[in-house]
Amino acid sequence: MNILILGGGGREHAMAWAFRDNPKCRRLLVAPGNAGIAEIAECRALDILDPDAVVAFVRAEAIDFTVIGPEAPLVAGVADALRAAGALVLGPSAAAAQLEASKAFTRALCDAAGVPGAAWARFDALSPALAHVRAQGAPIVVKADGLAAGKGVTVAATLPEAEAALEALFAQPGAEVVIEEVLAGEEASFFLLCDGETALPIGTAQDHKRVHDGDRGPNTGGMGAFSPSPLMDADTTARALDEIVRPTLAEMTRRGTPFQGILYAGLMIEAGRPRLVEYNVRLGDPEAQVLMMRLGAQVLDLMLACAEGRLGEIAPHWAEDHALTVVMAARGYPGLPETGTPIAGLEALAADSRHQVFHAGTTRDSTGQLVAAGGRVLCVTARAASLRGARAAAYRMVARIDWPGGFCRTDIGARAAGEDG
Ligand code: AMP
Ligand code: GLY
Repeated sequence: MNILILGGGGREHAMAWAFRDNPKCRRLLVAPGNAGIAEIAECRALDILDPDAVVAFVRAEAIDFTVIGPEAPLVAGVADALRAAGALVLGPSAAAAQLEASKAFTRALCDAAGVPGAAWARFDALSPALAHVRAQGAPIVVKADGLAAGKGVTVAATLPEAEAALEALFAQPGAEVVIEEVLAGEEASFFLLCDGETALPIGTAQDHKRVHDGDRGPNTGGMGAFSPSPLMDADTTARALDEIVRPTLAEMTRRGTPFQGILYAGLMIEAGRPRLVEYNVRLGDPEAQVLMMRLGAQVLDLMLACAEGRLGEIAPHWAEDHALTVVMAARGYPGLPETGTPIAGLEALAADSRHQVFHAGTTRDSTGQLVAAGGRVLCVTARAASLRGARAAAYRMVARIDWPGGFCRTDIGARAAGEDG
């Protein structure tokens, strides 16, 4: 098959790596890709937010299957355009992608479906929003309604913090804001393939959103992740499926916008009880890196079955393994990252089914030297029989990477592995 992946981060590198190992994959194209992806696939320039351009590309290159990595092309209707053109694609319609694109849409849908989550209210003007937070008191959560790349959420510990967050959001014209109760517990991520009828779990993970050790500093897209999540035992997973995912999918189908693609449920777990924090309509980044490491080449068969509506016929084969990824970011991230700094030492590292460095933001300069080209730059990923083993192996690789312009957290997975001092 000729396969196209849209995107150019660590998530897409991890998918490309897994697909490459599957004999069904003949040609693999990634748009736009990055320097790491270019070692295993053909990287192409393409405006992945333009549905017509993507359809034309798929026709010109005789692509048999397209997988959409990030949310923006989904929200822009790229999956709709491909399906309308008769092309096989993994990814929800723009209407179904509202599950990620609008928090108010999701909260209202979950209320209709009886999905447990935070009490919430939506505002399009500052003064009623201020009155609401003053009446509710702190702590309280303030969120921009639209896509905000993880940056539109403030979990305010105090009333002045909540008021400041509201004032900042409503400084933008046309702002829409959701205010939520703070859910107590610990967060885990639950990933499923959904074909409109069947929901097939493909793994659980936990990420680390803050930039510094000990969960300090500003939020990022994710500084590391591990899979599986110890919070998601069999009972909690079954509850998440029955009480959260299935009612959501049934309500989407009832509304005439069935969900086909990857559903990523962000859950808050308290005493084994899962509640919904948010949905995303794609794999997480860096969660995909640990999921792909654990699933390997079979993930292509799972994704094809999903796109063809055959999920009921297939199930993942699990090893009793653990995977962990450490994100190495460029100095300055999540503010303005320093780009162009040289990276060395990757060639000397093992690269096999248990050790991979997925590239998130790299390029080659005019001399061919690998250099940083983004905030999150490398995802150093390892797989082992235990979380401790995966953590040790990933950090052994990190220690051998020669990149003075980069930094990483040292405590990814430490608490879950019982190693936090
Ligand atoms: P979201 O973009 O909705 O996922 O929010 C980003 C992060 O904010 C989540 O991963 C949580 O850590 C936190 N968060 C969001 N909503 C809540 C909530 N209602 N209660 C507690 N934490 C929340
Ligand atoms: N790592 C969080 C996300 O992909 O949304």
